[in-house]
Amino acid sequence: MITIDIDVDSLIKRILEMKKYRGSGLNPDTIRDLILQEAPHQASSKKLLKAVKRKLHNIVAPYLGEPDYEKLRDELKQIKNTTPDSPEIRSFCERVLSEHASTSERLPYMEDFYNQLFQQTGIPHTILDLACGLHPLALPWMGLPLSVQYHAYDIIQPRVDFINDFFKTIGLAPLAENRDILVNPPEIKADLALIFKEAHRMEKRQPGCSRGLWAELDVKTLAVSLPTQDLSGTHSLLEQHRTLVLDNLPEDHRLEEIAIENEIVFLIRKVQA
Ligand SMILES: C[S@@+](CC[C@H](N)C(=O)[O-])C[C@H]1O[C@@H](n2cnc3c(N)ncnc32)[C@H](O)[C@@H]1O
Repeated sequence: MITIDIDVDSLIKRILEMKKYRGSGLNPDTIRDLILQEAPHQASSKKLLKAVKRKLHNIVAPYLGEPDYEKLRDELKQIKNTTPDSPEIRSFCERVLSEHASTSERLPYMEDFYNQLFQQTGIPHTILDLACGLHPLALPWMGLPLSVQYHAYDIIQPRVDFINDFFKTIGLAPLAENRDILVNPPEIKADLALIFKEAHRMEKRQPGCSRGLWAELDVKTLAVSLPTQDLSGTHSLLEQHRTLVLDNLPEDHRLEEIAIENEIVFLIRKVQA
């Protein structure tokens, strides 16, 4: 193990002031965690900064672009019929979902996706959407009652604020939170937790982190979804992702799979004693 002298707070500040992250509302806990994870493996503070920046780039994926939340908020305000199943809300959500690769891929089969999922899990009253991205905007296709407690977690503040504005508009409680779920796993008891299309990236950030997180969640069912193909659509990722899930399956938990188009959902449940 290497020991270098670092001032963690100054390093966090330095990264947050970089052009790429300035004003992004990125959660400092994530940067702190990366610094602490990387510090023992880096021989100088320069190398440490480089390693943290590389990991951060993969987590935040700024190259994927970010919607103009102010503009979207204005559009949301113009909508007259704000019930979740109104055609105006659906078309607004469809547009937003099409802006992120993970949610855009799911657009053609969303209704079927949630039907199949909830058939297996039952209709949840409390959901945790972990590393949610823009996924909460798929709510109009989930068919859930407005009494649902939908807790959504992401590490980008403007994204979280926008999701809360959306929740309020359609009559849901604004339960989106800026929280790094690996650093501070939610303690809320829930019927269902979702980790959609992110576990493979989390494993790159910190190999084996999923096992601890999955074991810690106080949920009846955890649904971990992963893509079955790479972005070009030419290479199968199924076996690799099945291995990821099996390697991280906590003791006393059982596994079921639902394959829906090019996504596989692993349902993880604690075996009742
Ligand atoms: C691929 S995107 C969205 C995936 C989304 N679950 C879906 O299926 O559409 C991943 C999102 O997870 C967020 N994220 C990454 N690591 C996180 C963490 N440790 N805690 C909370 N959010 C995280 C990112 O900011 C990003 O918005």
